[in-house]
Amino acid sequence: MRSIFLFCCISLLCLKGITQNERLFQPDAKLLSVINKNFSDADEQYRVLMKMVPENEFPKTFFPATRKYEFSSADWWCSGFYAGTLLNLFRETNDTLLWHEAIKSMHFLQKEEFNTGTHDLGFMMYSSFGTANKISPSKNYEQVLMNSAKSLITRFNAKVGCIKSWDNTPWKFPVIIDNMMNLELLFWATKFSGDSSFYHIAVTHANTTMKNHYRPDYSSYHMVNYDPNTGNVIGKITVQGYADSSAWARGQAWGLYGYTVAYRETKDNKYLQQAEYIADFILHHPNYPSDGIPYWDFNVPNIPHALRDASAASVLASALLELYKYVDLPHAKNYVAAAEKIITTLSSPQYKAVIGTNGGFILEHSVGHMPSKSEIDVPLTYADYYFVEAMMRYRNLGK
Ligand code: GLY
Repeated sequence: MRSIFLFCCISLLCLKGITQNERLFQPDAKLLSVINKNFSDADEQYRVLMKMVPENEFPKTFFPATRKYEFSSADWWCSGFYAGTLLNLFRETNDTLLWHEAIKSMHFLQKEEFNTGTHDLGFMMYSSFGTANKISPSKNYEQVLMNSAKSLITRFNAKVGCIKSWDNTPWKFPVIIDNMMNLELLFWATKFSGDSSFYHIAVTHANTTMKNHYRPDYSSYHMVNYDPNTGNVIGKITVQGYADSSAWARGQAWGLYGYTVAYRETKDNKYLQQAEYIADFILHHPNYPSDGIPYWDFNVPNIPHALRDASAASVLASALLELYKYVDLPHAKNYVAAAEKIITTLSSPQYKAVIGTNGGFILEHSVGHMPSKSEIDVPLTYADYYFVEAMMRYRNLGK
């Protein structure tokens, strides 16, 4: 009788999509209380930030030394993170002011659904409209997401097997590792519409990237330039990293997150294996600091004096907390311990801003684009977004 009862409970949890690792998950009570405090502090911080955001503009960063903000127009790759962070904070705090601010921001963002000049529609529209649709599904959000997915796939080249990253560059058909993050929108579009072409393109892009972006040690090049007529690789270089042959930290985290999503959406084991290899590259790298916050590039020569990148750490923590669900228990325990370490460090005064400072952003000390000397050691909208997401994932594991 007891075993039938247990079987029914386990079956019900499986139906809810809860994995065995999640069932066994034992959250750290101290960290949970830190996370609760972080959410209420972040709510206050975003109330500071929202007073400063001009209509029809989107927060990028703040320069503490000069107390100057940088905002973007809707077509910048980061324009959806502000709304996404507000929406996730609303989920955690029920502060309706944040919800209304997010809706206002999305009103100005919506027109990007028809933007075929960027590969970043996943970042822009799925973090915002995708999150809103999870909280309060609506035909309007679904339509925006479908239009965005249709715009994104116009950039796919079947000969190359990838979605093109940037237009108007010296490169013929550049594809950056970051682009793995835009596939989640396409997986959603197939689930929603039943049209498998979005799924097919996402899987093809993931396969081509696995073949050409990764080195034997499972670190990733930042960019692969293809010949759009033959699909041949012309070159493998970096734009945002220290060197062509180096491992730019955020790029490694984008890849880890991207392949974890690809596994979630396809259940194809090769993506799971890839994600585990990437996680192991990062977590066992001799230059990965014991407090969990990567240097902005794993191979920059001035380590240990190089700057850290809180944004890479946030993406990494969030990705590890999803990967945790799918792997063998010994690996899972390492991944969750690594994520706990990152969240703990980011929650310390070293990274988490005092309320009312840092322009209203939650985290300090990210590196946007070192080679172009922009956004260095500053808050960044996506560092906040993935930090909030990582904390939500931690709190919701097993629920
Ligand atoms: N291009 C996205 C990033 O800076 O990570």
